[in-house]
Amino acid sequence: MIDFVGNCESITTLKEVVRKISVTDVTILVTGENGTGKDLLVQLIRDSSKRNTKPFVVVNCGAIPYSLAENEFFGHVKGAYTDAGSDYKGKIGQADGGILYLDEVADLDLNLQSKLLRFLQFRVYQQVGSNKEVSADVRVIASTSKDLKSLVSTGRFREDLYYRLNVVPLFLPPLRDRSGDIDDLAYYFLDKYCKKYVKKITFAKSFLFSLQNYTFPGNVRELENIIEKEIVLSDDGVLIDIKHSDRIVTKTFLTLKEAIDDFKRSYIIKSLDLNGWNQTKTAKTLDIQRTYLARLIKEYEISKL
Ligand SMILES: Nc1ncnc2c1ncn2[C@@H]1O[C@H](COP(=O)(O)OP(=O)(O)O)[C@@H](O)[C@H]1O
Ligand SMILES: [Mg+2]
Repeated sequence: MIDFVGNCESITTLKEVVRKISVTDVTILVTGENGTGKDLLVQLIRDSSKRNTKPFVVVNCGAIPYSLAENEFFGHVKGAYTDAGSDYKGKIGQADGGILYLDEVADLDLNLQSKLLRFLQFRVYQQVGSNKEVSADVRVIASTSKDLKSLVSTGRFREDLYYRLNVVPLFLPPLRDRSGDIDDLAYYFLDKYCKKYVKKITFAKSFLFSLQNYTFPGNVRELENIIEKEIVLSDDGVLIDIKHSDRIVTKTFLTLKEAIDDFKRSYIIKSLDLNGWNQTKTAKTLDIQRTYLARLIKEYEISKL
């Protein structure tokens, strides 16, 4: 099952809408800046839909030059070109019964937009080199990081296609507008990359504070990259500063007490780890009472790495 992390109001509402539309075949347009999680949301929709065992075909609309696009989408029949030695189904044909995901749909060529519109209206199309109508049962989901509405007003995106695609709009806000989710996402990626790189690492408060004070122009993707880089380049223990990102400057956000607490916590974790998490031995090393150590472990919410 897909983990779509986030509990802030906008994400909770979004998940609620996804739950409601998952059983339908309604066309969806996912919008949001780069790295906000559009692809992941589409995966979530796919997973919770009744087409989840059927084909899921992704078309990256920006990556196909127009000369090849018609063939990519609609396929061809044998003999359509000199080198078309056999039939080619095309993306729509491959997606029959399942879902066609049009990633970065704003980049779609205008000529192709007309052809796609016809398919969305009548669910039939023609393969290159054939005048026979073929039908396909396809649910369409599109995404874009561009402002489609303004592309419509400047004539670069067909208005009728825009309305066909935008039946249910889902907007993923930039990460800077949902800073309440930063900690949860950071812990989620911590867990993911500690497993991947077999590390025992946790965050100090100062680390999370630095993240909270950054604007993340690259959104969740940038946060994920930052955490992966810190984990892969750090030894086991507690991360206090963001050391390996040139875009985030760790400032001092903590009060002296918070900084001391961070240090105490990371020092206790280090001592516990060196003593195999034996509290009696650790208390001896630190020259404190075992009961006092137990109290600190509870207070600082320390658990085994
Ligand atoms: N809410 C989230 N929970 C967990 N991972 C996320 C979340 N949002 C984005 N990601 C991760 O961030 C990265 C970028 O997301 P992606 O869906 O590719 O963004 P977009 O398509 O909007 O550019 C991916 O690795 C994705 O798994
Ligand atoms: Mg994407």
